[in-house]
Amino acid sequence: MPNPSPTRDAALAALRAAEARFVANNPLSQAQHNLAVASLPGGNTRTLLHTAPFPITMQRGEGAHLWDVDGHKYVDLAGDLSAGLLGHSHPTVQRALHAALAETGLSLGATTPHERRHAALLSARFGLARVRFTTSGTEANLHALAAARRFTGKRGGVVFAGGYHGGVLRDGAALGGGAVVDGLPDNTVDKRDFVVVRRYNDLAMARRVIEAVAARGELAAVLVEAMQGAGGVIPGRSEFLLGVRAAARENGALFILDEVMTSRLAPGGLGAALGLSPDLVTLGKYLGGGLPFGAFGGREDVMAVYDPRLAGAMAHSGTFNNNTLAMCAGYAALKEAYTPEVCVSFNERGDRFREKLRDVARGTRLSITGRGSLIGLHFTEDGLEDIECAEDIKGKERPDLRDLFWFEMLEAGFWTTRRGFLALILETENEELDAFVEAVRDFLERHRQLMLVDK
Ligand SMILES: Cc1ncc(COP(=O)(O)O)c(C=O)c1O
Repeated sequence: MPNPSPTRDAALAALRAAEARFVANNPLSQAQHNLAVASLPGGNTRTLLHTAPFPITMQRGEGAHLWDVDGHKYVDLAGDLSAGLLGHSHPTVQRALHAALAETGLSLGATTPHERRHAALLSARFGLARVRFTTSGTEANLHALAAARRFTGKRGGVVFAGGYHGGVLRDGAALGGGAVVDGLPDNTVDKRDFVVVRRYNDLAMARRVIEAVAARGELAAVLVEAMQGAGGVIPGRSEFLLGVRAAARENGALFILDEVMTSRLAPGGLGAALGLSPDLVTLGKYLGGGLPFGAFGGREDVMAVYDPRLAGAMAHSGTFNNNTLAMCAGYAALKEAYTPEVCVSFNERGDRFREKLRDVARGTRLSITGRGSLIGLHFTEDGLEDIECAEDIKGKERPDLRDLFWFEMLEAGFWTTRRGFLALILETENEELDAFVEAVRDFLERHRQLMLVDK
């Protein structure tokens, strides 16, 4: 075994130098941060956006580009983790917003034709008998779970390690051993009602957990992503997902597919591409055209728990559920801009881009995961080729290399998330994607000693 410490020391030195350049290059971002800490805890109101030593403050975005307060221009490869799929000022969305302001207005506090129109479009596109709106993906999952609870008369849920279903519905990053683990973090709603399957993509383990929870008479729903997004952009194998659906159904539970991130990957969502026919689906992100948005829907009999015409129906409140801007922008975005044809060719473009990144990264500590226009970058000691679940990379991550990469991509003019998540934007030029591949190649070459996997 080679002694890893000399390369670790060299990585740390490179990281310190990159961080020092970051501080020197971004004085106005630092000044903004210093002001922000006076009114926001840590200067932050969306944890993901915090980066030490301070976050870059953006001045504006246009199309697939961002400009920060220090005047740097970036190719935006983060795409606001999928909410920014259409870019920052898509003409279709602008038109829809202007029309909504001029012709309808804000906060009417009444039903408008716009929610019906958007619901019909989402129903047709994603195969949902009935749809309801929320203002975030988190809420969509909370209300879908509530529907499952009411429908089944049970409370419990099974979720997967590495899964992310919203700010208050996260799995535990710090899971312990064993097949059935309650590893949810403290800010998870109804923490005690969820059981976490430790390995995503492990059908035998999932079955055991589902059966164990159902045997206690507690299982209302199994909630899963067809590709884990925040958990590392790790695709679910179709046998796994179909098997989980079967296990949920056999055990009297609803199968809820969280498509908040993945609905963009195929015209009817990733679930349709994989033939999953879920009982309920949750949606969000770009489907509001860039405005705060969420939706959930599916089987008519399940969604009827929210039908206010029926005695004993559950309430589903939310001041902004049918807010006119999101209803109009989302409708226009899906109807006119992200058509099924555009969706297919965009994701094919993403597949080609990811393959190029994979070719460049082969044999290094950088691994590439994902599907279509969503891409994960992982920095691990062994440069793992097959990442099936978050558990596979646990203890092997190299955050020093990940952070070094992030600082140096910023210097090269690319906005990526520090955790290594890329969500492509429709308007990004192929030349810009190729330029990123070259920037990655340069990085790997420049840091050859740090990045090559020891044989
Ligand atoms: C799969 C998944 N579900 C739910 C959510 C929560 O959506 P929101 O941030 O709109 O609450 C996210 C957000 O990243 C997500 O990726």
